[in-house]
Amino acid sequence: MSNSARKTYLITGGSGFVGSHLTDALLARGDSVVILDNLSTGRAANLAHAGGNPRLRVVHGSVLDELMVDELVHRCDVVVHLAAAVGVKLIVEQPLRSLTTNIRGSEIVIEAAHRYRRKILITSTSEIYGKNSGGPLTESSDRILGSPAVVRWAYSTAKAVDEILANAYHKERGLPTIVVRLFNTVGPRQSPAYGMVIPRLIRQALGGVPLTVFGDGAQTRCFAHVRDVVDALLRLLDNDEAIGRTFNVGSSDEVSILELAKTIIDFTGSTAGVELVSYAEAYEEGFEDMMRRVPDTTRLRELTGWVPRLSLHDILTETIAEARADLAASQR
Ligand SMILES: NC(=O)c1ccc[n+]([C@@H]2O[C@H](COP(=O)([O-])OP(=O)(O)OC[C@H]3O[C@@H](n4cnc5c(N)ncnc54)[C@H](O)[C@@H]3O)[C@@H](O)[C@H]2O)c1
Repeated sequence: MSNSARKTYLITGGSGFVGSHLTDALLARGDSVVILDNLSTGRAANLAHAGGNPRLRVVHGSVLDELMVDELVHRCDVVVHLAAAVGVKLIVEQPLRSLTTNIRGSEIVIEAAHRYRRKILITSTSEIYGKNSGGPLTESSDRILGSPAVVRWAYSTAKAVDEILANAYHKERGLPTIVVRLFNTVGPRQSPAYGMVIPRLIRQALGGVPLTVFGDGAQTRCFAHVRDVVDALLRLLDNDEAIGRTFNVGSSDEVSILELAKTIIDFTGSTAGVELVSYAEAYEEGFEDMMRRVPDTTRLRELTGWVPRLSLHDILTETIAEARADLAASQR
C-alpha cells in the first residue's frame, strides 16, 4: 500500500552523505524537509545547492538535545534517523562519544517519535552481522561478534541496541518503525576523512601516493550507489507494509579490496601502486575484519520491487569526477 500525500520529513544527520541525497530526493518530489545536524561529519556544502528552497530548513544542533528533538519531531510527519558517529576510524578514535551519540541519541529520537506517534525509519548497518562472513546474509542471519574490548564491535552493538529499542517500541507501544540495515553505500559527497575506502583510495590515486589496502586485500565488499540506496529508503517509507520490519539494503556485486584498488588505478590513470598495510597499523592492535559481507535483499525486493540500477563502474566514474573537481578547486 502506498501513501504519497506530501509530508514534512525530519532527517537527523541530513547534512551528511546519505542524508543530503535523501533530502534532494524528497525535495524533488515535493515534500518538505527539516534537518537536524551538528555538522560533526556532515557538511553544509552538501546542501548548498538547495539553500534557497523554501521547503528545506536546516537546524544546527545535536540529537542529544532533548528539547530541540522534541520540538522538531512535533512539527514533522515522519522521522528518518540517520545521525550517528559513523566510520570505523572515527569509532576507533572516539569510542565514548560515538557510543553516546549512537545509543543515547537514538533513544532520544525514538522517544520523541513515540511521544507524537510519528513514523520513524532507523538506519542500522551491516556491521551488526559482525564477523559473519557467510553469505548472502539475510535479515535473520546470526550476529558473530568478537570481544566487547574490540571497539569495532561496540559500534555494531550500539546499532543493535537501536534496532532492539525500535522493535520494542513497535511491539509494546505500537510505534510505526522501519529498520534498515545499510551495507556499504558510496557515491558523491562521501567524505574521505573518516576511513571510507572508495573516497580514500581515489584521493590516493589522484595524489599519486600508494593506495593503502588493509590486510591482504582479499576481503570482498559490495558497494551500492547512494541514489539506489535512497530509492530503497523512499520505497520503504512509502509502503505501510514495511512497518515493524527490518530490511537489508545494498548491492550484491562482490569485489575484493585489492581488485577495487587496481580498478581505481586503472580508471584514474594513476601511476601510484598498491601498498598492503596490516590492520594493526591501520587501526589498532587486535582489529578484526570480515572476509565477505554480501546482503540478501530478497525481502526488500519482494515488498517494493527494488533492485540496484547503478554499477561499480557508474560509482567510480562519478566519484572520481567529483574528487578531480574538488582537487582542482582546492588548488585554485
Ligand atoms: N554510508 C554507509 O556505507 C553506511 C553503512 C551503514 C550504515 N550507515 C548509516 O547511515 C547513516 C548515515 O551515514 P552517512 O554515511 O551518511 O554518514 P555521515 O557521517 O555523512 O552522516 C551522519 C550525519 O550525522 C551527523 N551527526 C553526527 N552526530 C550527530 C549528533 N549528535 N546530532 C546531530 N547530527 C549528528 C553528522 O554531522 C553527519 O551529517 C548512519 O546512521 C550510518 O550508521 C551508513
